[in-house]
Amino acid sequence: MKVFKYMRGAISFKKYYRLLNDLYVTVFGRELMLHFPFYMNEDESFIQRQNNLIDHCLSGLGDLSGQTLLEVGCGNGANCKYISEINDSVKIIGIDLNEDNLVIANQHMGSERTVFYHDDAQKLEYIEDSSVDVLICIESALHYPDKNAFFSQIKRVLKPEGKFLVADILRRKEDSGRSLWWWKRTMLLHHTNENDYLGYAGENKLHYLAIRDITPEIVKGYDGHKSWIPRENRSWGSFVLLQFTLALLVRLYLKELRKHKKYMVFNGVHA
Ligand SMILES: C[S@@+](CC[C@H](N)C(=O)[O-])C[C@H]1O[C@@H](n2cnc3c(N)ncnc32)[C@H](O)[C@@H]1O
Repeated sequence: MKVFKYMRGAISFKKYYRLLNDLYVTVFGRELMLHFPFYMNEDESFIQRQNNLIDHCLSGLGDLSGQTLLEVGCGNGANCKYISEINDSVKIIGIDLNEDNLVIANQHMGSERTVFYHDDAQKLEYIEDSSVDVLICIESALHYPDKNAFFSQIKRVLKPEGKFLVADILRRKEDSGRSLWWWKRTMLLHHTNENDYLGYAGENKLHYLAIRDITPEIVKGYDGHKSWIPRENRSWGSFVLLQFTLALLVRLYLKELRKHKKYMVFNGVHA
């Protein structure tokens, strides 16, 4: 049964993303963004809530027309596709370390204004100095062991006055960092806290314009998840197993977000 394959597959970082991509294709018929949903209204679909997060992140970055936007940790490229569809003159570069995600990006998420590279956020070898107007990084920095190296790359690749946005899941101040150790090891998680983030910007002479805690909107984003999986064209058994898998994932995410973590958005500029 496919769902058992998914569950067995959820044992490594790479397989986790394969699992999510496969799960979305099974449930929604296509690959979706790989980030959490953001609540704005009742009765929104999961896809709408994922779009809400991108809209929220872009809202502080001004008009993207004619700009070069770099998405660091672009995953399967679904964010890049969405951004290229809402603005018809933005040029987009997406980079990611995971080849499987990049295959999907190149096959399904490209446009004549979008390119994808296999690159490491801590090195950005494909990106020239002072070449980027806007840099975004959504739910990816939690995987970087050396976030200071990532911030020094932000400084290097942004144009003067260039803007950046990092959306990341941080440890709460009171959290000892020992929660769910097996999940952390499996998923290559390197959560830090807000103080560290202040340090990365300070050390690299980057300036934050706004810092927001959007944990409540993310937690509420899972409201109504039981109605997200369409029942049509699916056997009762696979429907129940999909619901079970979703319930398990939601429980895991919400436990972490409510007890140990917070979802933060950092908006900043180069100067
Ligand atoms: C949760 S997904 C988010 C993808 C996308 N930003 C989104 O919002 O849908 C995290 C992505 O970060 C990528 N990643 C992890 N470590 C990375 C690194 N050092 N450099 C570049 N990408 C990395 C993973 O491969 C994965 O595709």
